[in-house]
Amino acid sequence: MKSLKIIAFLLFIAAGTASAQNRNNAKCPFQFLYHFGDAISDTGNSVRVQPSGPLLPPTRDPYGVTFPGSPTGRWSDGRVDIDYVAEAVGLPNIVPYLSTNASRSIDGVIFSVAGSTALNTSFFESRGIAIPPYNTPLDTQLTWFRSYLQSNCTNQTECAKRQPSNSAVLFEFSELNDIGYALVQGKSIQEVTNYVPLLVDAQIKAAREAIGLGATRVVYTTAAPLGCYPYILTALTTNDTSAYDGLGCLTAVNNVAVKFNNNLTASFLALKAEFPTVNILSADYYATVRGLITLKTPLSSGRRNPALRTCCGVGGSYNYDSSRLCGSPNVTACPNPNNSIYWDGLHFTQRVYRNVIGIQIIPALLLLKCRLI
Ligand SMILES: *[C@@H]1O[C@H](CO)[C@@H](O)[C@H](O)[C@H]1NC(C)=O
Ligand SMILES: *[C@@H]1O[C@H](CO)[C@@H](O)[C@H](O)[C@H]1NC(C)=O
Ligand SMILES: *[C@@H]1O[C@H](CO)[C@@H](O)[C@H](O)[C@H]1NC(C)=O
Ligand SMILES: *[C@@H]1O[C@H](CO)[C@@H](O)[C@H](O)[C@H]1NC(C)=O
Ligand SMILES: *[C@@H]1O[C@H](CO)[C@@H](O)[C@H](O)[C@H]1NC(C)=O
Ligand SMILES: *[C@@H]1O[C@H](CO)[C@@H](O)[C@H](O)[C@H]1NC(C)=O
Ligand SMILES: *[C@@H]1O[C@H](CO)[C@@H](O)[C@H](O)[C@H]1NC(C)=O
Ligand SMILES: *[C@@H]1O[C@H](CO)[C@@H](O)[C@H](O)[C@H]1NC(C)=O
Repeated sequence: MKSLKIIAFLLFIAAGTASAQNRNNAKCPFQFLYHFGDAISDTGNSVRVQPSGPLLPPTRDPYGVTFPGSPTGRWSDGRVDIDYVAEAVGLPNIVPYLSTNASRSIDGVIFSVAGSTALNTSFFESRGIAIPPYNTPLDTQLTWFRSYLQSNCTNQTECAKRQPSNSAVLFEFSELNDIGYALVQGKSIQEVTNYVPLLVDAQIKAAREAIGLGATRVVYTTAAPLGCYPYILTALTTNDTSAYDGLGCLTAVNNVAVKFNNNLTASFLALKAEFPTVNILSADYYATVRGLITLKTPLSSGRRNPALRTCCGVGGSYNYDSSRLCGSPNVTACPNPNNSIYWDGLHFTQRVYRNVIGIQIIPALLLLKCRLI
């Protein structure tokens, strides 16, 4: 395990060097990317989900302020992790599923939709938990996948390129929205802990389906530390100082994420044992994001760690107010989003997507026998 990490790190350095010299810096044995997940990699689906999508915050300033200077539908000040990943493996032309156009040549399809859950909407409805109307659960993302594979392609080269056997398939449900929605609506830690095995099963079932359709390269990511997000810290704020860890994150919430990550990792290992010819690799977002928070945490910051403040927001201890989100009138961004970890209280900044998140997953993909050129 340790040597794998070292190799991955060396590959990352190599990739970074190659990237500076050449845009198309890797030649991989796969020619296409499929991506399932949430906002961490939504490049423009949520804003196209009718009827609410076109009204969502990332259709407005200051989303996209760092790149390209105007909103793109990404829930970030710029790019998101998959943008960096796709470029690093030489497949930069990835498109959101809801904007696919049969007559264009592309390198991948993003099924991820911001705010999405791994479990069906009905699961939450039956428990009285409200879910945003643009939620596109994993099950629906899989339906999109099947219908994409069945849609006619007129160009033989293009048809061959997008076969699952020719692709890398990524699962990134790293925001744990299923748990987040429940917690901010008052469900207990004990209750959401019960959801953990269901969330894991949903992803394993999806990976199994992709493998059944021919996929031989699967990459998944662990959940980020949910108890450090400004929206969670705001909703679950407490005067009980023992509820916070040394970074000012909520320990009990992070413990749910750790349980999820342990179960997810063990379950993917079991899946790997079942399909020895399938490559299954992972990237650890939990440790990396915590590492970054640690780096940015001032000494004796206490439970209100300024490193956990939202860049684009207003009010409260974390510059976050769920009724006045980034993109609302008179809600402004901090002068330099590059200095912040959290962009809008619910998502990371481009800088984190590039330097922290992207670099975790790029080595995993390059380990799938990509040559750097
Ligand atoms: C699809 O792409 C083609 C070629 O780039 C373009 O001419 C056409 O307008 C596009 N169609 C839609 C619906 O975007
Ligand atoms: C979601 O619902 C579909 C039926 O519509 C079912 O087949 C599937 O197993 C459900 N998925 C989860 C994760 O509950
Ligand atoms: C694909 O083409 C076949 C034959 O031309 C047609 O019967 C089928 O409906 C098409 N499928 C889609 C999804 O367009
Ligand atoms: C098929 O697509 C490839 C790009 O993938 C392109 O180079 C080629 O010209 C296309 N062929 C036709 C007949 O359109
Ligand atoms: C924390 O204590 C202050 C002062 O006693 C009180 O006003 C506030 O409502 C308390 N907050 C919570 C979340 O209990
Ligand atoms: C995941 O958690 C469930 C429920 O606690 C347990 O039954 C299952 O064995 C766990 N799976 C793995 C692979 O650890
Ligand atoms: C925004 O700020 C301006 C100037 O202070 C004020 O006139 C306006 O009412 C504010 N709008 C909202 C929606 O708060
Ligand atoms: C933030 O970083 C990006 C990428 O390195 C750079 O293009 C941008 O100018 C930086 N923004 C500021 C305000 O320094």
